[in-house]
Amino acid sequence: MATVKKFGGTVGAEVQGVGLDQLLSDESLPAWCLKVLEENGALVFRGLYIDDEIQRAFSQKLNEADGAPSGEPPPIFRVTLDPTMSASAEYLKGAFFWHIDGASDDIPSKATLLSAHVLSESGGETEFASCYAAYDDLSDEEKERYGLLRVVHSFERSQLLLKPDASDEERAAWRERRPDKVHPLVWRHRTGHCSLVLGVSALRVEGMDLEEGQALLAELLERSTRPEHVYRHEWGLGDLVIWDNRGVLHRAAPYDPSSGRDMHRTSLVGDEPIQ
Ligand SMILES: [Fe+2]
Repeated sequence: MATVKKFGGTVGAEVQGVGLDQLLSDESLPAWCLKVLEENGALVFRGLYIDDEIQRAFSQKLNEADGAPSGEPPPIFRVTLDPTMSASAEYLKGAFFWHIDGASDDIPSKATLLSAHVLSESGGETEFASCYAAYDDLSDEEKERYGLLRVVHSFERSQLLLKPDASDEERAAWRERRPDKVHPLVWRHRTGHCSLVLGVSALRVEGMDLEEGQALLAELLERSTRPEHVYRHEWGLGDLVIWDNRGVLHRAAPYDPSSGRDMHRTSLVGDEPIQ
């Protein structure tokens, strides 16, 4: 029987008692997983050794349990810094900074599933921080003030941090790949919960002096990611982690790009614009 053991902070729990065979055969498991994901922000299944076919099928079951129409299971995206394994390898170092996946999309994915296939000898831990807890920690006066702010999110910014001397052509290509997007700083979810929308993509606050806005965004990120708000997952081979991409920031600790580290990602369909 599946049980949840909280890690004790504001985010993260381990799911125990779920084996590979149950992922597709236990009809009540997908809805149960979505419920405990909502409550815990990130779920760890240690040593599950899920393969691509089962990961895709289980992701589709989660989508369907969330009300998405049945259809093709989502594709596997390889998260690796090895350019021979992924055409996106050069962009993925952006994951070393706190972010939500698809922050410059209209509707970010609801949740992300990541399974460990090859690990680096050192580094590569993934950290999670709750953006719900970050909002809850604000004073009433801050909640009121920040509730009015809108933030420009930029893929270009995360890439510039990695490559400050990028040419004009490279910068234009980044902007074309993912154009800037404006989101409210406070996301009021359908559930009634609020979260802060922060991370490396948060470039500036609309209507605020650039430096003043960046200082505010940096301060809020620092407060949101203090150690007491963070769960750091030290990967074991075969681990599967699912996180709520709408309300959790994540980042990877740096690792050797030639280590062969290979993680397989699927994304659940988002249905809630940031508003
Ligand atoms: Fe990510």
